[in-house]
Amino acid sequence: MHPDLERVLFTQDQILKRIHELAGEISRDYEGRELMLVAVLKGAVFFLTHLAQALTIPARIDYLGIASFSPGKALPGVVRISKDLDLDIQGMDVLVVEDIVDTGLTLRYLLNILSGREPNSLFVCTFLDKATRRLVEVPVRYRCFEIPDRFVVGFGLDYDQRYRTLPCVGILKSHIYQ
Ligand code: IMP
Ligand code: MG
Repeated sequence: MHPDLERVLFTQDQILKRIHELAGEISRDYEGRELMLVAVLKGAVFFLTHLAQALTIPARIDYLGIASFSPGKALPGVVRISKDLDLDIQGMDVLVVEDIVDTGLTLRYLLNILSGREPNSLFVCTFLDKATRRLVEVPVRYRCFEIPDRFVVGFGLDYDQRYRTLPCVGILKSHIYQ
C-alpha cells in the first residue's frame, strides 16, 4: 500500500470487476443505440477507458475540461469550461462520465450547459459517489461505488495533481492535506 494512504477502499481487482458489471448494465440499457461518452478531465479518464472498452454497444468519446475558480473547497461548484467538447451532441444519447460526485454543484453546472445543446438524452455515470455530501440533486443514473465522506485518491482521483496513477482507491492520510 502507498505510504500516504490510511487504508485502501477498493483494490484494482474490485474496481475492474465492478466497472465490467456497470458496463454490462449500461450496454443493456442503451441496446440498439450509440452512446456519446463525455468524460470530465482529468480524473474520469482512468474510469472512462476501462468502462468504454467493456461496453458491448458502439460509443463515441469526447472530453470536457473544467477549471475551478477556487482550488480548495472555499467555493465549490464555481467552475468554468477550460476545454470544450469537439463534437456536437445535439440529438445524441449523452452519458457524462465523472470521477466523483460530491456536493453535486460541479455536475449541475455541467448538465445545465450540456442540456442547452439539445442532446436526445443526458445522464451521468460516476465512478465514486459521496451521496451524503450532496447539496443539490443531480441525476446520477450509474455509480460504481458509494463512499463515505473521506478524502480519497487513486484510479484517477488526485490531491494537488498527485496520486492519480495509483491502481486502487484509498483514503489519503489527513496530515498530507492539513
Ligand atoms: P462537487 O462539485 O462538490 O460535486 O465537486 C466534485 C469535485 O471535487 C470532483 O470532481 C473532484 O475533483 C473533487 N473531489 C471531491 N471529493 C474528492 C475526493 O475525495 N478526492 C478527490 N477529489 C475530490
Ligand atoms: Mg471532477
